[in-house]
Amino acid sequence: MNANTPSGLGAIERGAARVDVSDKRMINARADVNQLLPLKYRWAWEKYLSGCANHWMPSEVSMQADISLWRAPASSGGLTDDERHMVRRNLGFFATSESLVANNIVLAVYRHLTNPECRQYLLRQAFEEAVHTHTFQYICTSLGLDEGELFNAYREVPSITDKAAWALEHTRSLSDPDFRTGTPAADQAFLRDLVAFYVVFEGMWFYTGFAQILALGRRGKMVGIAEQYQYILRDESIHLNFGVDVINQIATENPGLWTESFRSEVRAMLAEGCELEIAYGRDTLPRGMLGLSAESCERYMRFIADRRCAQLGLPPLFNTTENPFTWMSESMDLTKEKNFFETRVTEYQTGGTLVW
Ligand SMILES: [Fe+2]
Ligand SMILES: [Fe+2]
Repeated sequence: MNANTPSGLGAIERGAARVDVSDKRMINARADVNQLLPLKYRWAWEKYLSGCANHWMPSEVSMQADISLWRAPASSGGLTDDERHMVRRNLGFFATSESLVANNIVLAVYRHLTNPECRQYLLRQAFEEAVHTHTFQYICTSLGLDEGELFNAYREVPSITDKAAWALEHTRSLSDPDFRTGTPAADQAFLRDLVAFYVVFEGMWFYTGFAQILALGRRGKMVGIAEQYQYILRDESIHLNFGVDVINQIATENPGLWTESFRSEVRAMLAEGCELEIAYGRDTLPRGMLGLSAESCERYMRFIADRRCAQLGLPPLFNTTENPFTWMSESMDLTKEKNFFETRVTEYQTGGTLVW
């Protein structure tokens, strides 16, 4: 055993040859995983830098308007019952999803991704997932929601349980202490987990989830939560793109894994993800509201699924070209000036609280 083990925790091999960049690989690398430099995958390092530049904290966003609106009865301009139901379902989905994603990164993906620049990004992503979980704690406390109801939704609301259970099956096999990459079957299991979490969970389910709350925000409702979702969306778009780059890089380095039959399996996973989301959409929006319905969420899910297929070099599932929520792309372009909610965008002060 030496440090050139996938974990990087083996005994140090004194005087071993220095790391050559050509020895670096995404999985099953021989190169020492404890040495960040020389960099091989600049895209991973760039994403780490972008993640750091996007730093934000949920408590920087005022919840005052949301608190008043949440307390107001429907008869005096408060939310309708359908809107409240949608908000509760949506928060219920996200409150534990952020933890599931974080656990998958830390307990499953990190151990098997044998590249230090990718691990550097995973550490940043893990912190961002903690910030996202913090957001749901902050929303729950600010609005005085029933925390038991919110954080148990993934066990008590079948349409949320079905999504979580589908993803958990993949992370469970990887987090088994005896799981090792290095065989085609194990390496494909690792890829399946990356597809389930980065592409389906974060890249598909999160996007319809964001759209639901941002649709309310566009109409001036729950603008605090909507602003927080914009920050989460900015983070998640990097998580998604990192996952896509990781999958594509592994496929390039290991063409034997990315076979015709495996590609159809991946497409089938995206199709399953769509079905689960459609069921959840019907449950979340049983009647629909202004600018938002289960049917428009379904069309959006199909549009997004086709985009994810394209990012992975796969043929589209639905051949859709129509995006029912074109405004979602502007939400993804948070400018440093002002976003469309006309709220303050905080330029984060690094070390601003240090006193010497
Ligand atoms: Fe997240
Ligand atoms: Fe994420």
